[in-house]
Amino acid sequence: MTALKETTTIYVYRGDASSGQEQPYSVEVSPGMVVLDAIHYIQAHHARDLAVRWNCKAAHCGSCSAEINGRPKLLCKTRIDQYLASGVPIHVRPMKTFPLIRDLVTDVSWNYRVAKKIAPFEPAEPAPFTLFQRDVDRIQEFRRCIECFLCQDICHVLRDHHDQNVYMGPRFMTKLAELEMHPMDASDRIAFTTQQAGIGWCNVTHCCSDVCPEGIQITGNAIIPLKERAADRNWDPLRRLFGHGPSAHVAEHKSKDRQKID
Ligand code: FES
Repeated sequence: MTALKETTTIYVYRGDASSGQEQPYSVEVSPGMVVLDAIHYIQAHHARDLAVRWNCKAAHCGSCSAEINGRPKLLCKTRIDQYLASGVPIHVRPMKTFPLIRDLVTDVSWNYRVAKKIAPFEPAEPAPFTLFQRDVDRIQEFRRCIECFLCQDICHVLRDHHDQNVYMGPRFMTKLAELEMHPMDASDRIAFTTQQAGIGWCNVTHCCSDVCPEGIQITGNAIIPLKERAADRNWDPLRRLFGHGPSAHVAEHKSKDRQKID
C-alpha cells in the first residue's frame, strides 16, 4: 500500500441553491483519517463557515450523508487513505437528490413528510405476543436503517427523474416491508404500497442496496418481496376469478403467519 502523503488537496463544494463551485483545500493527512475529519480540518484551518451536518461520527446517526467522487457515502465512514492509495483526487459534494441549503447541507425534510403518510404498526392483538425468531430476523434487517437517505439519493427515480410525487423511494419501501412482513401487523399495506407509495416505479437496479451503509438488501429483501405480494394481489387469476378482495387477502396472509405461532 502506498504511504500516506503528509498533505493532500480535497475539493469541496461551496455555495447555495443559487450558485456555487468546488474549492480546493489543503489538508494534513493523519492515519485512519475519514473524510469528515478532513472537513473538520478545513473548517479549523481554512473555512470556518463551511456548512456540514454531522452528529455521531460513528456511522449511527445518518447525518453526514454526502457524495464523494459522485458516490453517495457517509463522510464519517469513508477513509481517506483508500483514495490516496490509488492517487484519486477527493471531491466532496452535497447529495444531488435533495434541495441544497448550503455547501454540504441539503434539505431532507421531504423524507419526514413522506414518513408521516405511512400508517404505524397496528397490532392484531394486545401485546405481549409471541414471534418466531425467523420472523424477527426477517424484519430486524430493515430496522437497522439509520435514515441517512443515501438510498434515496442514488435512486434514479428521485435523483434523475425527480418523480417524488409518484414514488416514495427505497427508504420507505424498507419501512413498508418491515410493517407488511410483521406477522402481528393487522393493516393492509399492499394497496398503499402499489398506489400512494408507487413501488411500480422501481425497476430493481439494486443501486440502493449498494450504497446502504448498514448493508440492508433493500431491493432483494424488501422491494422484490413487496412487488411479489402486490402482483399476487392484483394479478393472481384465481384471486381475480373468485373475487378475493383486500381484506380477504390480509386475513389469509396474516393468519398464515399466525398459524406458525399457535
Ligand atoms: S456523523 Fe453520524 S453517521 Fe456520520
